[in-house]
Amino acid sequence: MRTPLIAGNWKMNTDTAGARQLASAIASRADEAAGTELLVCPPNVYLSLVRDAIGDAAVGLGAQNVYPEANGAFTGETSTDMLCDLGVQYVILGHSERRHILGESDQDVNKKTLAALKAGLRPIVCVGELLEEREAGKTSEVIRRQFEGSLANVSEEQILSTVIAYEPVWAIGTGKVATTEQAEEVHADLRNQLTSRYNAETAEKIRILYGGSVKPDNAEQLLSQPNVDGALIGGASLKADDFLAIAAAG
Ligand code: G3P
Repeated sequence: MRTPLIAGNWKMNTDTAGARQLASAIASRADEAAGTELLVCPPNVYLSLVRDAIGDAAVGLGAQNVYPEANGAFTGETSTDMLCDLGVQYVILGHSERRHILGESDQDVNKKTLAALKAGLRPIVCVGELLEEREAGKTSEVIRRQFEGSLANVSEEQILSTVIAYEPVWAIGTGKVATTEQAEEVHADLRNQLTSRYNAETAEKIRILYGGSVKPDNAEQLLSQPNVDGALIGGASLKADDFLAIAAAG
């Protein structure tokens, strides 16, 4: 009953020609992913050209970050209004690279989440533990803290527009994918938290994506888990064949 969402996080990759080519290739074969929602999240500077390359195809457009204000004196930032103006529907927030390289806190992620929702953007809020946290048996505690902090004050109506992504930091770009049991355990825990915060009916409607070294050869197993509702893909989203093969596995 939850439509799987297969989202490509292009990170800081591609160039003008490459972004156009990748978007066009995915758009032209979007029908291969019938029953699955496709989303591409290029760098901000390529959002317009990717939107144009997608045209009428069933592929959504997402950004990788946003500043939590509609406009103003915030040199170098991109606002919620600007993303909406460009036709962006989703925005990835709290990705571990932003948390760890750029120092974003749960509070920052929460501000962005609330601003995105207010502007009509659908946030994809990322959570995930470090390797040392997993090894210390703290995964559940870390995920709960990030869930509580990043999604504070999100109303029941707003959570229905929100997607959660579990990305164990040790699995990102490392080729070391979480086992299906590890992924399902955290996803189920996240759904329990949604149930406690909202209610079971609402919790059942929220999509929880897995991210971290998802490839065509491990996608089917991961996506077959009851609480894994799609994938947030980095490296493999830069090749149309791989991205679409993952979508077909969903
Ligand atoms: O947001 C996607 C991500 O961080 C996973 O990256 O390259 O491991 O698929 P990758």
